[in-house]
Amino acid sequence: MTDDVLLVHGGTPISGEIRVRGAKNLVPKAMVAALLGSAPSRLRNVPDIRDVRVVRGLLQLHGVTVHSGEEPGELVMDPSRVERANVTDIDAHAGSSRIPILLCGPLLHRLGHAFIPGLGGCDIGGRPVDFHFDVLRKFGATIDKREDGQYLTAPQRLRGCKIQLPYPSVGSTEQVLLTAVLAEGVTELSNAAVEPEIEDLICVLQKMGAIISVDTDRTIRVTGVDRLNGYTHRALPDRLEAASWASAALATGGSVYVRGASQREMMTFLNTFRKVGGEFEVDEDGIRFWHPGGPLKAIALETDVHPGFQTDWQQPLVVALTQASGLSIVHETVYESRLGFTSALNQMGGHIQLYRECLGGTPCRFGQRNFLHSAVVSGPTKLEAADLVIPDLRGGFSYLIAALAAQGTSRVHGIDLINRGYENFEEKLVSLGARVERPRAS
Ligand code: EPU
Repeated sequence: MTDDVLLVHGGTPISGEIRVRGAKNLVPKAMVAALLGSAPSRLRNVPDIRDVRVVRGLLQLHGVTVHSGEEPGELVMDPSRVERANVTDIDAHAGSSRIPILLCGPLLHRLGHAFIPGLGGCDIGGRPVDFHFDVLRKFGATIDKREDGQYLTAPQRLRGCKIQLPYPSVGSTEQVLLTAVLAEGVTELSNAAVEPEIEDLICVLQKMGAIISVDTDRTIRVTGVDRLNGYTHRALPDRLEAASWASAALATGGSVYVRGASQREMMTFLNTFRKVGGEFEVDEDGIRFWHPGGPLKAIALETDVHPGFQTDWQQPLVVALTQASGLSIVHETVYESRLGFTSALNQMGGHIQLYRECLGGTPCRFGQRNFLHSAVVSGPTKLEAADLVIPDLRGGFSYLIAALAAQGTSRVHGIDLINRGYENFEEKLVSLGARVERPRAS
């Protein structure tokens, strides 16, 4: 299919300015939070990406009216008439996003039951949802697994409980928050994720009337309340998209001003960017990232939960590491198979070797489990154009970066996947001087 292919004529640095809006990993969850309110909510800085459209559809299926607000990127969601949705309709959304599972708590509170179809999301590991269902059972939900999905019911009001997550999972922490706020009594969550997007979700819930405290030891305490209001909130900027453009600037030898990028949520990325040899300048409205010329430096990189180096920053930055002098070591500790995308970089001329051992300083959950989760990148290598098939969202953006850095014309297939998490990326590429085009239908 030619309409899902992008031709990238590489070899030219990208340069200019783009803007990032609200974070993909916060906005859909804040939209789900609107379901908990007894009055309309207003969310600002909403990007036009597929994950947002999916949640908008799911909310509408459940009787929430959703319309655009006065300012661009503003959504108004009115949950005053939440109702049961048709299972087939919900299923039509299955496979396109992992967000549906976060509707469980709010729907159990509002309706006493919920249906969760099979889940999609990026293919970067097994991506189980066992923590989510364990958590919901602890709150008192019953779960009936059938062929078409999971049917959940709450025979009585869900009750607060003590939960210890086996791993600080972002989604499971959000599951707990969205369920605990209206549960009876206190919920104590240990080993919680504390990503900036979670902090922002907590801000949303607090605006609605929730009582939530976060301790320094990853413990979150929620005192359930009987009723929540609506909220008005401006979503925090997308630090993952910002880092993707920063990596593109570095890998192509260019310079990109990312309007809307915020230093506070990107500190760990900025330190690493500087270690590799990239330069940046922070001002009130954003951050400019650029390659200062001369060789880049090899580094040791280990992904981790916040405040560590975010796993979603890894794939785009690895492309820049192919241009660094020496051996870089990458240890992926969040997902067991998020390095598969490197085979395409090798096909383009990169030298990246994968290992099952933990090559970083810290042994991780995957060391004993036979997963290729460490990499040695030797550089600098000249990249050549290739035919590429996009494997997942961040891997896909990395392929775009590699194609931009490479000599010649690459054909990138499955380009539509990028719309899941990057707003108007083609327009942004063009505005940065990238030479990209859709192939002409033959
Ligand atoms: N995990 C389990 N069982 C569960 C849930 C998670 O074993 O029930 C494991 C996962 O397999 C993984 C680890 O825990 O190895 C972390 O997963 P987590 O739950 O934190 O991830 P998520 O909530 O599914 C979100 C983002 C991801 C981001 C991760 C980590 C959204 C929609 N997705 O996923 O974003 O990588 O947190 O920060 O918020 C992306 O933006 O490209 C992306 C994949």
